[in-house]
Amino acid sequence: MDLQGQSSGDDPGAHELTNARRFLDQAEVAFRGEPVGTVASLDPGAGADALNYDQVFVRDFVPVALLRLAEGRAGVVRHFLEAARELQAQGDSLYCYRPGAGLIPASFKVAENGQSLVPGYGGHAIGRVAPVDSSLWWLYLLRVYTRATGDWDLAQRDDFQVAIRRVLDLCLTGRFDMYPTLLVPDGSFMVDRRMGVYGYPLEVQVLFLMALRSADELLAATGEGPVYREAVQDRIGKLVYFLRTFYWLDLPTLNRMYRAGTEEYGLDAMNAFNIVPGSIPGWLLEWLPENGGYFAGNLGPSRLDFRFFSQGNLLAVLSGLADPHQAQAILELVSARAQDLFGAMPIKICFPAMEDQEWRTMTGGDPKNTPWSYHNGGSWPVLLWALAAAGVQLGRSGLVQSALDAALPRLQETRWPEYFDGRDGRLVGKEARLFQSWSMAGPLLAECLLSTGEPLGSAVFTEEILPEACPV
Ligand code: GLC
Repeated sequence: MDLQGQSSGDDPGAHELTNARRFLDQAEVAFRGEPVGTVASLDPGAGADALNYDQVFVRDFVPVALLRLAEGRAGVVRHFLEAARELQAQGDSLYCYRPGAGLIPASFKVAENGQSLVPGYGGHAIGRVAPVDSSLWWLYLLRVYTRATGDWDLAQRDDFQVAIRRVLDLCLTGRFDMYPTLLVPDGSFMVDRRMGVYGYPLEVQVLFLMALRSADELLAATGEGPVYREAVQDRIGKLVYFLRTFYWLDLPTLNRMYRAGTEEYGLDAMNAFNIVPGSIPGWLLEWLPENGGYFAGNLGPSRLDFRFFSQGNLLAVLSGLADPHQAQAILELVSARAQDLFGAMPIKICFPAMEDQEWRTMTGGDPKNTPWSYHNGGSWPVLLWALAAAGVQLGRSGLVQSALDAALPRLQETRWPEYFDGRDGRLVGKEARLFQSWSMAGPLLAECLLSTGEPLGSAVFTEEILPEACPV
């Protein structure tokens, strides 16, 4: 298919879902003759300015992989998992200027005519951001692959067991705090620019839980497996308790916060993190619907990031972080605030955008993340898959269907951009690539989930978690 032709708009008939499938096939790259993933974007206009969009990104490949598994094309997923494992950073973690042992790269490039793989651990990335989410996504994908195919041998292989334990070493090691959550640098996940998402951003915490739950299922019953499993199980209950208790926002919790005392010392403090009531933003008082709720974007000393982050909240449903009541409340909020979150193009990556002085201070005046653009309140079609996984699971298919119906014609017409701009998401993102693989995979996967009417069985965690209270 001629993407250049598409670009100049002389082949309007090509903008259909079936063609999205074909473009996605075209985005596939091979390593030593085997398909190993999809490049982030096929945009022909990008040319020499491709930056790293011609690489296979771990996070971008996840929805493609889930789609391939649903289609029964597990081969590329297996090869991808093997390639990423081979590229996992090894060696001695005591030294700087090298990726910590256990880190799975953000992306890799297929080079030398398909004969070698060149990993990117963030050392060349804009802003030198560290890809914390890659290792977590990799473990999760290994779990989904294993359950979807019944191929338990891959994860049980010695090299895979070592890789799983290395990821756990990276996450569970002692740090400068005592919380069950994971302390990470700024921009260490899908939001890979400075956006005030340092510390304990929700999305990373949910991915951490998904990785822990995956490891719990995949760790071998022999050798070092049981020791790690014990630590993993210990962490899961505490992490879930912590997030459900301190990140959750609905009217009752907001009301408690609104009337809370501050400057409390000691273990009996009600307002353990000293969140000053005056820091509750005015918009939230109006925005939070009566029966809705969501997990806040981040938590730190005297700091609750009240922004709504879509991916973290939707994955909270899929991962079992949200209890049944919380899961319904999240979907209730999404439904009640569809105008804000979906607009003309679902789904806003976060709401609301940071504006004026807040934008200047929090992003460093980043011209790519101006208000209602890109990571700062831009709309990302890839998120449709997570909406579908959560919505179908909770009997909200109607909501998902209407979001998808609104998105598809515009996506086809605008050639599958990476993201959209504007408060209503009506403009193609200022710097958006076209033919972005996960912008095609997200809606395709959502459609697949809607048509089968089932949550992607292997992708969802259905078993209840027993939260374990911890002294904070
Ligand atoms: C941008 C996005 C990141 C994505 C990458 C490749 O850097 O912020 O989330 O993985 O592009 O598409």
